[in-house]
Amino acid sequence: MIYTKIKGTGSYVPKRFLTNDDLAQIVDTNDEWIRTRTGIEKRHIVTDEYTIDLAEQAALEALESSHVAKEDIDLVIVATVTPDHYFPGIAQLLQKRLGLKTVTAFDINAACSGFLYALQIADKMIKSGAFHNALIVGAETLTRLTDWSDRNTCVLFGDAAGAMVIGTSDYDSIRTVITGSDGDDNSYLICDNVDLKDPYTNEKSTQDHIHMNGREVFKFATRIMPQMVRDLLEMNKMSIDDLDYIVAHQANLRIIDKAARDLNFSMDKMYVNINEYGNTSAASVPLAIDEAIRKGHLKRGDQFVTVAFGGGFTWGGALITY
Ligand code: UT7
Repeated sequence: MIYTKIKGTGSYVPKRFLTNDDLAQIVDTNDEWIRTRTGIEKRHIVTDEYTIDLAEQAALEALESSHVAKEDIDLVIVATVTPDHYFPGIAQLLQKRLGLKTVTAFDINAACSGFLYALQIADKMIKSGAFHNALIVGAETLTRLTDWSDRNTCVLFGDAAGAMVIGTSDYDSIRTVITGSDGDDNSYLICDNVDLKDPYTNEKSTQDHIHMNGREVFKFATRIMPQMVRDLLEMNKMSIDDLDYIVAHQANLRIIDKAARDLNFSMDKMYVNINEYGNTSAASVPLAIDEAIRKGHLKRGDQFVTVAFGGGFTWGGALITY
């Protein structure tokens, strides 16, 4: 039986940030509304960096903390909805930037759940015996897709990257990873990118922005997050009291709070950093896990669940003995 574990983590956010007051200069909003409805106080945004730049910094930090040599990485998976090109993927750009040998490298898109999808794929590929050490990254520059005149969305998102090196382990650490999707509700959170182009008129494409039905996403999120935690616990014959932490996708503090209340779990043990970064999509979970580890909240031996949900709808969760 091959086991896997988290060997190292890293994260990176751009230096520039916008406060709620800054946004109130741009759209009809205010600090009080944003804080009380979302828990967000500021968000970091790119100005001269691209998704690959954020991914590289987070990956370098994860590699350093993992003590895994670059030559021993044989798999790179990047979760992103904001790749810098249609192709090549961020994973190939990252391979070049890091000077990795020939590896299997690819990007995946499962919106804000993308990192959990990457974790599940990497975990299974290593447990199959075909690969040994994977670098998995969630990297986003979502503010490039933000409509800065739409107060319903522009206050929510920020840019970041989080990375993890996972590899073979002598104990069962990454115990269960689950993912799922329901395409019926794909229009509630959407950003188009490809226009149909008639070769005779050849109309110019215009970049679309994020469109969201916040209430529907909210309803879905508050249902799926506690359900995933319960499913993971049941699959591992554990109870909520066995968990030291829950690291949830940082989309709205009220969503996290509602999940905690539904699960009868202390809010003190729900990791929260949405106030600092806003919703950073696929980067949200690895950024939060890295921070929770670096700040000493998550320690070796702790049992935690991480859960995410996103456009699609998609969802994913993992039960990990760190
Ligand atoms: O990764 C997944 C991504 N997305 C999410 O997780 C989003 C999930 N949904 C949410 O977090 C919440 O639905 C929002 C934060 C987006 C919105 O909160 P809400 O409590 O559901 O507000 P609402 O959409 O029901 O809007 C309430 C009011 C409306 O005004 P009226 O119609 O009552 O006069 C909005 O126009 O708040 C207004 N509003 C704002 N006011 C000030 C909406 N956005 C803003 C704003 N500032 N930024």
